[in-house]
Order: sequence, then C-alpha cells, then structure tokens
Amino acid sequence: MDKILIRGGKRLEGEISIGGSKNAALPLMAASLLSEGTLEIVGLPDVDDIKAMAKLLLKLGVQVEYTEPTGSNIGTCRLSSSNIKTTKAPYDIVRKMRASVLVLGPLLTRFGHARVSLPGGCAIGTRPVDLHLEALKEMGAVIQIQGGYIEAHVHGSLRGANLTFPKITVGGTENVLMAAVLAKGDTIISNAAREPEVTDLAICLKSMGAEIEGIGTNKLKVFGVRSLHGTSHKVIPDRIETGTYAIAASITGGDLVLRNVQTNNNQGLLCALSKAGVETSELDGALRVSSKREKLRGINLTTEPFPGFPTDMQAQFMALMCLANGKSQITESIFENRFMHVPELVRMGANISVSGASALVQGVAKMSAAQVMATDLRASVSLILAGLAIDGETLLNRVYHLDRGYERLEEKLAACGAEIKRVK
Ligand code: EPZ
Repeated sequence: MDKILIRGGKRLEGEISIGGSKNAALPLMAASLLSEGTLEIVGLPDVDDIKAMAKLLLKLGVQVEYTEPTGSNIGTCRLSSSNIKTTKAPYDIVRKMRASVLVLGPLLTRFGHARVSLPGGCAIGTRPVDLHLEALKEMGAVIQIQGGYIEAHVHGSLRGANLTFPKITVGGTENVLMAAVLAKGDTIISNAAREPEVTDLAICLKSMGAEIEGIGTNKLKVFGVRSLHGTSHKVIPDRIETGTYAIAASITGGDLVLRNVQTNNNQGLLCALSKAGVETSELDGALRVSSKREKLRGINLTTEPFPGFPTDMQAQFMALMCLANGKSQITESIFENRFMHVPELVRMGANISVSGASALVQGVAKMSAAQVMATDLRASVSLILAGLAIDGETLLNRVYHLDRGYERLEEKLAACGAEIKRVK
C-alpha cells in the first residue's frame, strides 16, 4: 500500500493551479441521469471519487467518455443517459463512496423507480440520509428500506411540494433539487444548503432546461418541466483544495500564489486566516497567501454551513493552530466524530484536548515527525500539512483516503519546494 514520505521544515514558495471541485463534480455527474441528451462536464478533478462515480454511472448504463486530465488540470467527461439499463445502485460501489446516493433523486424522478444501497456511516459520523428520503416522500415517493437498500418508486410522477429541511444538508438539497426539476408542479425547498457546489449544480440544471429561482439563497423555487436536454458545464474550482494549499503556505511560513480560485467561495476561511495573522491578497483570479511562522496566533472558530467556516477545512486549520502562538478553540458543529486527526497530531507533539464538540489547542513551538495514519480525506491532509512544517521525516499511511479527493498533491507541493514523495 502506498505511503507518503515528507521531509518537512521547508518554506513553500511558488504557484499552484487549483483543480475542479470534487464535491461539485459528483452531483453534476449524477445530474446526467436526468436527460437523454449528453452532459459534458469540463474541469473534472483526477481523483478516485470521480472515478467511482463514473463506475457507478457506467453500471447504470450511462455512456461515459472520460478524458484523463492532460496536465493542464482539465478533465472532460461526456455523459449520455439515453440508454439506462438498470436503476439499481449496488452496495459494492455505494459503500466505497457515499455520494453515490445522489443518483436516487435523478433516477426516481426520470424513471419512477430506483434501488440504491443505503450508505452506511463513515469515519466522521453516522451520516444518515433520512432527510433526503423524507423530502422525496413528501413529493409522492413510496420508500422502504429492504435488505440494506433504499427501494423507491412513485405512481406516475413525483409532484412538487413545499419542503423545509429541519437541518441544512448539502446532499439532501442536491438530491431533492434534481428530483424536483422533472416533478409535476412547483417545489419550494426552504432551509436549502447554500454551498457553492449546490449553486453550481443549480446553474448546470438551468442550462439543461430546468426552471429554478433563488439560486445561491436558502430558498430554492423549482418549476417542474417535462424534460431536460444536454449541455456543457465547467465545474467550479475546488474551494477545499484552495484552502488546503492556503494552509500549506501559512504553516510553512511560505508564500504561494493559488491560481484558478473563486475567493468569494472561501470567505469563511480567509477571514479565519486573517485573524490568525496570515496575509492574503487577490490578484487576477488568483489568491496569494503568505505568512511568517512567528506571527501566527491562535483563534477560536466553529464550523458552519456556507458561508461560515467549512467543516472540510477544520482538520487542516487545526494543524495550523498546533504551531500558532497561544490557544485556540475549534468547535465542530456539522459532524459528530470529526476529530479523528487529533490523536495523530498529538503523536506528532501537538497539545490538544477534546471536550465534546470542541478541541482546545495550545500552540507549541515545535512538533516532531512521526509515522501517522489517517481515517478520512481531510484528516489525512491535515497530517501532511503538519509534516510539511516539522523538521524530520513524517510517513503517512493509508494514502487511499487522500487519493479520493486531492489530485497530484505530492507533485503540486514538490513544485513549490516541499520534499514529499509517494513510496510503495
Ligand atoms: C457534503 O456531505 C460533502 N460531501 C462533505 O464533504 C461535507 O463535509 C458536507 O457536505 C458538509 O459540508 C459531498 O459533497 C460529496 P450534509 P453531505 O448532508 O452532503 C446530517 C469531504 O471531505 N444529515 O450536508 O453528506 C449529517 O449527518 C466531504 O469532501 C442528517 O442528519 O453532508 C451531518 O451531520 C466529507 N440527515 C449534517 O446533516 C440527512 O439526511 C450535514 O450533512 C443528511 C444529513
């Protein structure tokens, strides 16, 4: 199994080009099921979760023409769902990638039935999909859980409904939005997630012929149409990849220019970085991040739905706080078990204590390199970030978590002066 070896303590300097957003691309790929026409998605990141979604779509009968990225960070996928063979999303694919559940809404609304394996919990929490299912039921779906599968069907078509999510859910909003575009009548989705990935999906659906109002707000109005057509859509840049490299610059006292970014999607993080003493500036669609290690200071923050500080940046920010001056308190409000990186950071010499949903970090002047292991994507990368800042050799195990969501990470970091390589 691959490992990543880092000889840390090097200041990073240079430019990194940010790829397309994984979490935007996954629902966009599922949206191809809504139409007979071809959906072309430009700017797909070359990461394992995208390959898993392509595999699932192939299994359903979608024609997938997947162009591997060419080094310019742009992968293009042409998806054609004119010949769907089955509406069953099997356990062996869904268990590896929870976002597979995003095929439920599109399959159900277009074909009237779907059988999708119920995703289990994962390392960061129980992550139920009850809110997706309740909303679809309000639209007329009949849903049962049988043999580990969500068995869903509808007599005739789904119908528009007035829906209010009791809790903000990104995937729930995306699933229901895709179901609503082909439902009979109008749907209002209140307390909808406003994450940029939801907005990107809504923009793509509109360009496929859907009628949606309130895009970017917490109230989406969808006027059901009979059918959608194909289109071409470019995925937004990955705001979490952007944030991760912003922390790489900050934690190494470095100076990086991040290209292909949309800073308006990163305000929660940028605000936290500025409070922590990191300098950021925007220039021509790029973000420059620079810091001096001695100026880093501890701050308090709480993860929140967009536009607040994203849970997907919590582990990386904690790595930064481990080496800042003073204390910081980091509260995780989205997932109940997203502190699995804490014991590993402690093994590297960090001073962190967890109490309920909060972690109290007392910054230390030095940490020590160690062999570490991660349990999920963002936890893995937080250990890499710590490793970049620490003198000595950090060896990260279970790299497959990282490969799910970061493309060519070692290459991008090495080009800016990091000593990092993949070892077998
Ligand atoms: C998306 O997950 C992202 N995944 C996650 O990114 C991200 O952390 C999360 O949104 C929050 O921003 C993708 O986009 C593929 P939710 P999702 O539904 O949609 C609870 C990463 O590292 N909930 O917004 O699954 C849930 O348990 C990943 O890239 C219910 O209770 O998240 C959680 O506590 C990890 N019932 C909260 O809501 C439901 O039916 C938010 O979850 C649905 C969710």
